[in-house]
Amino acid sequence: MVSTPRARMLIEQIRRDWPLPDEAAVESSLQLVERIMAAIAAAGGAIGFDEYMRMALYEPGLGYYSGGSARFGKGGDFVTAPLLSPLFSRTLARQCADCLEAMAQPVILELGAGTGEMAAELLAELATLERLPSKYLILELSGSLRAQQQETLQRRVPELLPRIEWLDRLPEQPFEGMVLANEVLDALPVQLFRIRAGEVLELAVGQEDGRLVWIERPAPEPLQRAVARIQEDLGGPLPDGYTSEYCPRLEPWLASLAEVLRRGVMLFIDYGYPRAEYYHPQRHMGTLICHYRHRAHSDPLILPGLQDITAFVDFTAVADAGTAAGLELLGFAPQGQFLLGAGLLDLLQEAMTEPGSRESLLLAQQVKTLTLPGEMGERFKVMAFGRDFAAPLRGFSLADQRFRL
Ligand SMILES: C[S@@+](CC[C@H](N)C(=O)[O-])C[C@H]1O[C@@H](n2cnc3c(N)ncnc32)[C@H](O)[C@@H]1O
Repeated sequence: MVSTPRARMLIEQIRRDWPLPDEAAVESSLQLVERIMAAIAAAGGAIGFDEYMRMALYEPGLGYYSGGSARFGKGGDFVTAPLLSPLFSRTLARQCADCLEAMAQPVILELGAGTGEMAAELLAELATLERLPSKYLILELSGSLRAQQQETLQRRVPELLPRIEWLDRLPEQPFEGMVLANEVLDALPVQLFRIRAGEVLELAVGQEDGRLVWIERPAPEPLQRAVARIQEDLGGPLPDGYTSEYCPRLEPWLASLAEVLRRGVMLFIDYGYPRAEYYHPQRHMGTLICHYRHRAHSDPLILPGLQDITAFVDFTAVADAGTAAGLELLGFAPQGQFLLGAGLLDLLQEAMTEPGSRESLLLAQQVKTLTLPGEMGERFKVMAFGRDFAAPLRGFSLADQRFRL
């Protein structure tokens, strides 16, 4: 199957015990490599890693998310909380129901809805609680994921479809309600930097003999300034050789989101740390991580378009960007604490109709995975912002760690 030298080169990058991509996937990845090489040539020999990551994930028709390669779930590349357990989305729905209570015609906007699982479970629970939003908007960049979401919602909550709308861009009219984003911040393209003899260098992507390679070059001015600010916050310089990421899109992205929320709450759920932990000396190789068929590794230059590329989230940067955009930081907590505070155990108890049954044991196991510190409970965090919204959120009733930011 891997007949051409270029296809062989691509396949040779895969470790021996990894499953091979099929012929169509190899062809699509090679086309993407060609486009990336053209962008590298047009830029004079190298593109920033953020541009590379954008192309690898979102290049129309070929990127990991935009080309249909993204595979969620057990047989795919990774599993997210909504796929792991319906209790995740149902607990979130309890929090949403509180927030929507005082609003006449609330709207929920979900960013990057993946398979549509969270939307389906959340809407079903809100229907049970009689707190349905007047509209559920989904902003999704990937055409293939949008189709998957439509299929999921059609199958799971057909009666609610008239309320659901897919958007290509943020709504023009500000609304009252909620914005939800699970594992979306980690997919925003990042720049990579390295400290060398007190200088800030950028790790860019170039090419050599038809292969994508790393190129170190002086960091552009805005990245220099961003790293200087990080070091100032940390109270001293990062050590020599230190390599990490910075997300330049975060601030403008949150500012445009803030503009569409007239009144209400935004919830961001993702893996990440407050700044002092994110840029901890021990994390000297950064937090970039790639997922290919449940193999997590750190080489984003292999298999473009066939693997997910993500970076952990600097939640201090998210808090700063949100408050700079005029939002109020309402809370910050590890996912485990947030879910327990929002009533996860009550839902578990209700769902365990036959204690000891296989179904009940499975649910209990899911709750452990969502909440235990060694699983998703501590690595994942929940951050909430509000606008013109005073009520305390039940998710932060057990823990609110804004002081760590
Ligand atoms: C890791 S997946 C998470 C999917 C889903 N929320 C879940 O938890 O299963 C990332 C999702 O974010 C979407 N995405 C990435 N950047 C986005 C952006 N700027 N706006 C909206 N969606 C985005 C991707 O297309 C994908 O659906």
